[in-house]
Amino acid sequence: MALLQFFVGLLLASTVRSKWIVPGARWRDTKGDLVNAHAGCVTIDKESGKFWLFGEYKTQGQTEGGGVSVYSSDDLATWESHGLALKPVNDSAYISPQNIIQRPKVVYAEATDQYHMWWHADNSSYGLLLQGFATSDNIAGPYTFVNATAPLGNWSQDFGIFTDYKDGRSYSLYSNGDRKEARDVYITSFNEEVTALDEVVYRFNKFDLEAPTIIQTDQSYYALMSHKTGYRPNNVVAFRADSLSGPWSQPFMVAPHNTRTFNSQSGFTLEIKGAKKTTHLYLGDQWDSNSLWESRYIWLPMEIDDNKKTLDIVWHDVYDLNVESGEVAPITGKPYYANEAHVNGSAFKQEANFASTGVIATGVYGNDSKVTFEGIEGTGKPQWVSFYYQNTDDMGFGDQPGGTPDRIGGSWQLRRISSVVVNGDVSKIETLYQRDTHKGIILSAPLELTLNKGANNTITVGGLFNGFNYKGADLDRIIVYPSEE
Ligand SMILES: *[C@@H]1O[C@H](CO)[C@@H](O)[C@H](O)[C@H]1NC(C)=O
Ligand SMILES: *[C@@H]1O[C@H](CO)[C@@H](O)[C@H](O)[C@H]1NC(C)=O
Ligand SMILES: *[C@@H]1O[C@H](CO)[C@@H](O)[C@H](O)[C@H]1NC(C)=O
Ligand SMILES: *[C@@H]1O[C@H](CO)[C@@H](O)[C@H](O)[C@H]1NC(C)=O
Ligand SMILES: *[C@@H]1O[C@H](CO)[C@@H](O)[C@H](O)[C@H]1NC(C)=O
Ligand SMILES: *[C@@H]1O[C@H](CO)[C@@H](O)[C@H](O)[C@H]1NC(C)=O
Ligand SMILES: *[C@@H]1O[C@H](CO)[C@@H](O)[C@H](O)[C@H]1NC(C)=O
Repeated sequence: MALLQFFVGLLLASTVRSKWIVPGARWRDTKGDLVNAHAGCVTIDKESGKFWLFGEYKTQGQTEGGGVSVYSSDDLATWESHGLALKPVNDSAYISPQNIIQRPKVVYAEATDQYHMWWHADNSSYGLLLQGFATSDNIAGPYTFVNATAPLGNWSQDFGIFTDYKDGRSYSLYSNGDRKEARDVYITSFNEEVTALDEVVYRFNKFDLEAPTIIQTDQSYYALMSHKTGYRPNNVVAFRADSLSGPWSQPFMVAPHNTRTFNSQSGFTLEIKGAKKTTHLYLGDQWDSNSLWESRYIWLPMEIDDNKKTLDIVWHDVYDLNVESGEVAPITGKPYYANEAHVNGSAFKQEANFASTGVIATGVYGNDSKVTFEGIEGTGKPQWVSFYYQNTDDMGFGDQPGGTPDRIGGSWQLRRISSVVVNGDVSKIETLYQRDTHKGIILSAPLELTLNKGANNTITVGGLFNGFNYKGADLDRIIVYPSEE
């Protein structure tokens, strides 16, 4: 497989132009539609070396049971839609539009020379807890439903697949649900045909985690999982082991504490074996529980150190992943600090020892309270701008059972929304979603904006909405990235 990927890499070298990956942005496919493939996987086609993205297809009014969508890409950034790989079927017991079709994964099964799709199959009240199975001769589908079964008689909720590159063996990864007697995560081997489960290899006992995925290095296996806080993000953890059957380490956090894994949930990891470097990618979901169909994607490289036995997800606003060489190149932008911005209305600057300049712009409430960054250099073409913000609404310690907000009987807001206006042109108002951080935690959210060529642009941020009123988040700085070639 590794060798194959190497040759595929050479083959693609002359044709592929890498494009930038922007975690948390509104990703669009080659037709301009939102990329709609949630909690899925990326499968590499054995012949072409193409990347195939599968995921849950969600629309407004139908966020479950919409089937499994499929996209292809040569560079992991440009995605062409191929429609639904698995279509829901009316009146089917397991794949009707009333069923749950979650966390689909696709692997190539050598023994059958087919592509096998597996997922969490359920009814709408999560009472079945099964694993669905469908097959296709073509990676893009259409996939034919085979059956939904209970793994070795047990329950199965959040689902993942791991294929070991050392022997090609595939494993089913699943949490067994929320009942008191469950709350485990299983690694169970598939049979050689990848048509049924074989035996339990390891059970993560009573950690009460979900959304499992495993990434492998030559020395180690790292199993990433999230806590159970529904569609609210929490601090994802990883376990390490020399062997899939353990012993596994204690779980440890994989992103800076209290960033809730950069506002994302685990679900899949991907190895890019390039000619120069092997890069391990974290493919997380940034669920939007206010509008699930608009949920976004947080894809980031992971730094793995097998000597220190550590794995860290590394944030980049914008980065170039060269799938031929395997190298990740973060793009450098120019910062503009809130400290130097013009504040208006109730917006004001306040001491904040965690901010980049020791000062943050806050009070961005209502239509007339604004923070204006001035003298911004633009290219005249679309360019990414990252807004570094703090949102103190606090969803609370989402990594604790129940994930209750920080106050008794409190209610949480998913996000604040700010308006963003370039050069005072209010006929074009962009909406910037600023999801909850923690107090003292600064995260960034991207928007693609078109500025005038030259250094006389302004970007004005105002308060639009936070669920109660017209509150924007506090601003630390913005970073303006160059335009892509
Ligand atoms: C499935 O059911 C929906 C709603 O009842 C209906 O609109 C649709 O035409 C049906 N599709 C098929 C293939 O029968
Ligand atoms: C789901 O399946 C369980 C177990 O068979 C059943 O108890 C429950 O009523 C079902 N829920 C729905 C909505 O059909
Ligand atoms: C589907 O799986 C169920 C167990 O969940 C089994 O009883 C049934 O025989 C299977 N059906 C087919 C057609 O294989
Ligand atoms: C599933 O496994 C758990 C332990 O992990 C066990 O307590 C439970 O009874 C099993 N459930 C079924 C339906 O086999
Ligand atoms: C705020 O902006 C308005 C309109 O742009 C302007 O009239 C007003 O003078 C500004 N106030 C401050 C304090 O800058
Ligand atoms: C802000 O502007 C919106 C849209 O023009 C308007 O509906 C809303 O009432 C205004 N809110 C405040 C607090 O001024
Ligand atoms: C910059 O823009 C402002 C208004 O937006 C204008 O008054 C000023 O003359 C411009 N300066 C230059 C150097 O273009």
